[in-house]
Amino acid sequence: MDLQDAQALARAIQKLFNDAHKVIDDSQPVSELAARVTEHLSCALRDLVCVTQSFQNWEHASLQRGVDAYLETRGEPAWYGVSGQGRSHSDTIDILTMSRRGFEHFEIGAVDYATTATGPDQTIDVVTFGLVETFAPDGAPILIGMRGPAEMFRREGCRVEVIAASRASATAAREEIERLMRRHDVMRGQILTFGVSEHRGNSLVTFLPRPALGPDEVILPEGVLETVERHVAGIGRHARALLARGRHLKRGLLLHGPPGTGKTHTVRYLMGRMPGVTVVVMAGTALRAVSDAAALARRLQPAIVVVEDVDLIAHERRFSEEGSPLLFTLFDAMDGIGADADVTFVLTTNRADLLEEALAGRPGRVDLAVEVPRPDPVRRAALLRLYGAGHLAEPDLERLVTRTEGMTASFFKELLRRAVLESLREDPAPDRPGMAHLTVALEEMLHGHEALTRSLLGAPRPAPRPVPRVTDGTEGLLSE
Ligand SMILES: Nc1ncnc2c1ncn2[C@@H]1O[C@H](COP(=O)(O)OP(=O)(O)OP(=O)(O)O)[C@@H](O)[C@H]1O
Ligand SMILES: [Mg+2]
Repeated sequence: MDLQDAQALARAIQKLFNDAHKVIDDSQPVSELAARVTEHLSCALRDLVCVTQSFQNWEHASLQRGVDAYLETRGEPAWYGVSGQGRSHSDTIDILTMSRRGFEHFEIGAVDYATTATGPDQTIDVVTFGLVETFAPDGAPILIGMRGPAEMFRREGCRVEVIAASRASATAAREEIERLMRRHDVMRGQILTFGVSEHRGNSLVTFLPRPALGPDEVILPEGVLETVERHVAGIGRHARALLARGRHLKRGLLLHGPPGTGKTHTVRYLMGRMPGVTVVVMAGTALRAVSDAAALARRLQPAIVVVEDVDLIAHERRFSEEGSPLLFTLFDAMDGIGADADVTFVLTTNRADLLEEALAGRPGRVDLAVEVPRPDPVRRAALLRLYGAGHLAEPDLERLVTRTEGMTASFFKELLRRAVLESLREDPAPDRPGMAHLTVALEEMLHGHEALTRSLLGAPRPAPRPVPRVTDGTEGLLSE
């Protein structure tokens, strides 16, 4: 290329720039979308200010509630959307700027909605892409834009944008929306479990129904259930008085014992006894979201954070950001919550031995450790009655109690299920299983090919944990 060609090329490029500039010049006719917005805001596009705030994707429903509450006191809201390719890639201000005719084709369109959970069996519709005209607390006209996770290109979370002629108006509106969002938080008082989406590595929150278990459905040694309940619920009941006397509220409970003895069962009982208390359940690799969960618990207190099978992550380094064991991430999250917070951490494990050292090295995290042991003869009889053998004659019950030495609570539940199955083979089937059915079921569970099942169900065994299992923390809590 010689010099002349180069100069010609430079001139051509300059002309191209000038022409492009003309296209987006203010004198160009504006789209209906831009005209509508500038008319409401009484401000030229180039002078608009946008204040944005992003939230985690699981906060979308709460954000919607906050925006709805904000709009409620400011007349009938009229949401509208934007049509045009590539809108998800752009901020609203950019969309408005680019919507001038002849440049990009963004126009007024339909609002995009999605449905999201606000409870175990409630949902609401949330705006995933929409705009609404309203007013700031100071009365200035503003435009609120809302984006949901699905509509955000390569971005996690959801966000709200407030567009106005002045930053002060936009900021005041944004702050008011956040305040209302916290007041109407859909997660307050709910039972939530954190999972990790396989897809994009983001955290997901699922709502669980609150279990309703009576104290007579949890068979534990004398006083254990009371101690646990007093520690978790009792301290909460005296929260104000304790704080007034300078005492801390934050507490840590460790439930330890063999598999199937009722640690998860006890946690479910506690949840049922504390209506209105927010519960965050975490297990396995979801624990890497523990800082989020702890922050959530603090914000929505009174709250309980349940960490199931904590031994499984005690030495897991893979999933924590710093490469230190996840257990320390958990401890840091526990420490990060102020002592004045009405938050209880409940940890469960069947390998207390693995945790001892870590807990001893970081005192103050767990202030009550309770063993959930295998049932003694009195408890075994109680379990047999609870699960449907109460109608048997005393000597029969006693025989079963003797034969089930060393078995755990979950063993009895399965035993009764099998006895019922056995009884259903008869025609006509009796209403309740008899001693003969129970004996068959018991023999089945105690012998031969049932050995593995037996050990899985909690019979004593030499190895401490023959089948390590990673759970997501929900299956035990969801069952029944
Ligand atoms: N103490 C108990 N009283 C009454 N039922 C019990 C008790 N323990 C366990 N069960 C029954 O057995 C089921 C399984 O017990 P659970 O999940 O609580 O065991 P776990 O101690 O958490 O075991 P793991 O260490 O394997 O998590 C419970 O859902 C419940 O139905
Ligand atoms: Mg459990």
